[in-house]
Amino acid sequence: MRLIVCADPREATRAVVDRVVGAIRDRPDVVLGLAAGGTMEWVYDGIVAAHEGGLSLARVTSFNLDEYVGLPPEHAQSYHSYMRARLFDRTDIAPGRTYLPRGDGDPGAAAEYEALIAQHGPIDLQLLGIGQNGHIGFNEPGSDFASRTREVALAEATRTANARYFGSGETPPETAVTMGIGTILEARSIVLLALGDGKADAVAAMVEGPVTEACPASALQTHPDATVVVDRDAARLLSRTAI
Ligand code: F6R
Repeated sequence: MRLIVCADPREATRAVVDRVVGAIRDRPDVVLGLAAGGTMEWVYDGIVAAHEGGLSLARVTSFNLDEYVGLPPEHAQSYHSYMRARLFDRTDIAPGRTYLPRGDGDPGAAAEYEALIAQHGPIDLQLLGIGQNGHIGFNEPGSDFASRTREVALAEATRTANARYFGSGETPPETAVTMGIGTILEARSIVLLALGDGKADAVAAMVEGPVTEACPASALQTHPDATVVVDRDAARLLSRTAI
């Protein structure tokens, strides 16, 4: 696991954007794994800026990590909507090559998503954020490191953290479909971005703690090409600042 500690969120985000833009320049038909959430918003702004500067995403294929169960794709808080608003509608990426898990509760949706990844993958570069409890995708603590795409119950901490995106009177769904940890680990390379003091505990457990299902992100220690990019606040509890 490689660790990059940046001075501030802007520099850390820039490092991740450069990595994604470089991957698209090197291989215009790259397969990207994408994440939603607050941390990724600036990353998508950076990719959109590169597109406005001439970078084409027309041949890129993308697979998102997860989607809430029970929110139709048009719902404002669905990750389908998030991705359209943040990236898809702002670039020339081909709509037929952007994949997200279906959150319609169909029991076949997870296996179908795995089959699509097997057909178009492997994922060359997987982007990840991290939950305050160490989750990656929506693989909450206790998730099996061999897990595949499936429907999972969201931890109360995750529902509370994500409630800020929902309107008053609305609460995040109780379940989601997420790529499994085993699915994520099959990506050729992985870049995880963590920003801010609120992620410091999770970052320390991921980078310096034991490899344990109690911290799903610690599975990245077993990956041959995983890079963790953090700002100083998120690195606050690390004893080393470079690995
Ligand atoms: C979202 C996802 C989640 C988020 C994580 C951090 O697709 O996979 O693991 O990356 O919950 O979310 P933010 O960035 O909102 O703190």
